[in-house]
Amino acid sequence: MGEDKGTLCVTGGTGYVASWLIKLLLHQGYSVHTTVRADPGNKRDLSFLSSLPGADEKLKIFTADLDRPDSFDAAIKGCKGVLHVAAPVDFPAKDPEAVVTQRSINGSLGILKSCLRSKTVKRVVYTSSIAAVYNNIHNKDVEMMDESYWSDVDCIRETLDPSESSYAISKTLTEKTMSEFAAQHGLDLVTVIPPMVLGPFICPKMHGTVRATLAPILGNKGDYHFLINAAMVHVDDLSRALIFLLEHPEAKGRYNCSSDTVTIQQVVEILSTSHPEFRIAESVGEAKGPKLPGLSSKKLMDLGFKFKYGVKDMYEGAIQSCKEKGLLE
Ligand SMILES: NC(=O)c1ccc[n+]([C@@H]2O[C@H](COP(=O)([O-])OP(=O)(O)OC[C@H]3O[C@@H](n4cnc5c(N)ncnc54)[C@H](OP(=O)(O)O)[C@@H]3O)[C@@H](O)[C@H]2O)c1
Repeated sequence: MGEDKGTLCVTGGTGYVASWLIKLLLHQGYSVHTTVRADPGNKRDLSFLSSLPGADEKLKIFTADLDRPDSFDAAIKGCKGVLHVAAPVDFPAKDPEAVVTQRSINGSLGILKSCLRSKTVKRVVYTSSIAAVYNNIHNKDVEMMDESYWSDVDCIRETLDPSESSYAISKTLTEKTMSEFAAQHGLDLVTVIPPMVLGPFICPKMHGTVRATLAPILGNKGDYHFLINAAMVHVDDLSRALIFLLEHPEAKGRYNCSSDTVTIQQVVEILSTSHPEFRIAESVGEAKGPKLPGLSSKKLMDLGFKFKYGVKDMYEGAIQSCKEKGLLE
């Protein structure tokens, strides 16, 4: 455990990315306030957070909900930075698009207002998504996207299945609205744009993205299109990038965070070489869909960030965690 580095707030502590990020922050010597949604019957087991090394002394868990934008005040009070990771990640979407989008925007603006009220928060780092970047008719023949690309809401509605479009629209409009609000109020906001996140996990559930990336062994045909040309990042690299950007004095604006782009054939090769115990579904050959562009992380690397992991490590970590939790039986 390093020296005491001060207190940060991480929203959505139960999630795949946030729980890994909290583990890393505690290890680096930060005190962490995290938020979880209310659990009236106290049925939820949060021991994967409370039993982390250092959690006894340095982790405090607060209740807050994006549906109640003022509810983040207590968790943010006294923090020097906020890593806003929580999002309504509903696949397939249960609520209508407008509800998901308003929840995400209002909740995120509520978080920014809490930061202003706190008078202690110096920077907010928001986890956006590749979904806020690639869905645009003008991006069709692009190989790599830098941070100047934005998804277009009409294009999302036209091209994506309604079960996926709510998420993409909510991420696009939330990032835009947060950036405008921060600029108007002189708040230091940095946004990070991850593609598919893969690697080990401490939260109990297998995340939808992990499931999608394991489609060739799970045989989920509906997920093959995600892997036709998939930009990816290891969850530990993403978490380190979020901390790096919170700490770096010159960080400004948006940052793509993707180490690799792989095809479904490369994924099949990795899986069949490293894990001959799994049978690759024959239907993988039928994978069809548009070839999505990759995400250039030049801006992030030019600032000094170094990725540590490759795609093989991402798969290794995810499969290991799934096996440990009995999720691949
Ligand atoms: N995983 C990926 O491949 C990926 C890729 C690009 C971007 N991202 C972004 O990374 C961030 C983290 O995603 P993740 O992969 O860690 O997803 P996740 O595991 O589904 O985590 C989402 C978190 O948000 C919380 N949340 C959902 N609705 C909420 C609400 N109404 N109020 C408060 N909290 C709420 C969830 O709480 P509950 O546990 O109570 O549901 C959970 O803690 C998100 O912003 C996502 O858009 C993820």
